[in-house]
Amino acid sequence: MSDLLKITDLAVDFDTTYGKLHAVRGVSIDIAEGESVGIVGESGSGKTVFSRATMGLLRGSSVHRTGQILFEGTEISSLDSKQIREYWGTKIAMIFQDPMTALNPVRRIGAQMSESLIKRLGMSKSEAKDRAIELLTLVKLPEPELALEKYAHQLSGGMRQRVMIAMAIACNPKMLFADEPTTALDVTVQAQVLELLADLRKELGMAMVIITHDLGVVAGYTDRIAVMYGGEIVELASTTDLFTDTKMPYTEALIKSIPRVDRKRGSELSSIEGMPPDPTSNRASCGFADRCPYAVQKCRDEHPQLVDAGNGHSYRCFFPIGGK
Ligand SMILES: Nc1ncnc2c1ncn2[C@@H]1O[C@H](COP(=O)(O)OP(=O)(O)OP(=O)(O)O)[C@@H](O)[C@H]1O
Ligand SMILES: [Mg+2]
Repeated sequence: MSDLLKITDLAVDFDTTYGKLHAVRGVSIDIAEGESVGIVGESGSGKTVFSRATMGLLRGSSVHRTGQILFEGTEISSLDSKQIREYWGTKIAMIFQDPMTALNPVRRIGAQMSESLIKRLGMSKSEAKDRAIELLTLVKLPEPELALEKYAHQLSGGMRQRVMIAMAIACNPKMLFADEPTTALDVTVQAQVLELLADLRKELGMAMVIITHDLGVVAGYTDRIAVMYGGEIVELASTTDLFTDTKMPYTEALIKSIPRVDRKRGSELSSIEGMPPDPTSNRASCGFADRCPYAVQKCRDEHPQLVDAGNGHSYRCFFPIGGK
């Protein structure tokens, strides 16, 4: 598999009234064609900023981006506005965190879908309608023709998410970013949407990045998982290694907080105590030190670098679980 997306040392800072906010701090990750990668981390860890940066969506004078984002060898910040519009949809597409705000509330689903097909692919009105029905059928939306006449608020959460997915895959992207695609949905619908994404990935040969705060949700659907904490990747491994050879105490805490049906009755589900690190600090310690059950003085005095454990497994910890 060749690399489709190659991100090296990506950092994103925002100017805020509290000073510089370091949302993403030196993230490197390569994603291959057709691969499925999970990005997991708690609220504020930088998942959305990371994915929006990769989409080339963070522009403006208060945003400072450094590092490299190469998609098929092209740095995305070198694209002009026409090229970036082509990039969105055909190269890379994104399902945004909140489908209710991503869909226009006062326009029918059909009109919204057709508009982008007409604009992007130069289709005629009737071609666009046929393609919209085809796409809604592909995402297994019941009665697609009727759905075209509806407004976003007339659809259930799961249906809205299917419409979002249909719109995202309309131009056959090579990579799909799904930002918290199932958070707003109940558990059964969550599983259906993830199954759908997995099927589409196979069918269309897309690479997929699933972003979530819930490790349990993505475990069954990804080849690799990157755990983000305080703007950094703190552990990156194949999904199997992440669970069976966990190195980072934060990852261990995430795994312990996954509800499991085989958990003994009465045994407690652990939550991760404490607060995430201050995003404005320059951080001279491990960002997890204050919350880590194994932390020693060194963890409070130095910031750990990423350690390569081989086999595509890396982690950011002085005292990894199970040793180096
Ligand atoms: N436009 C912005 N201006 C200033 N700060 C921002 C901006 N967007 C995000 N941030 C900050 O960057 C940090 C990372 O935010 P991000 O939205 O990426 O987190 P997240 O991991 O996606 O969280 P969630 O799980 O809640 O969606 C947070 O501290 C957030 O407040
Ligand atoms: Mg987010």
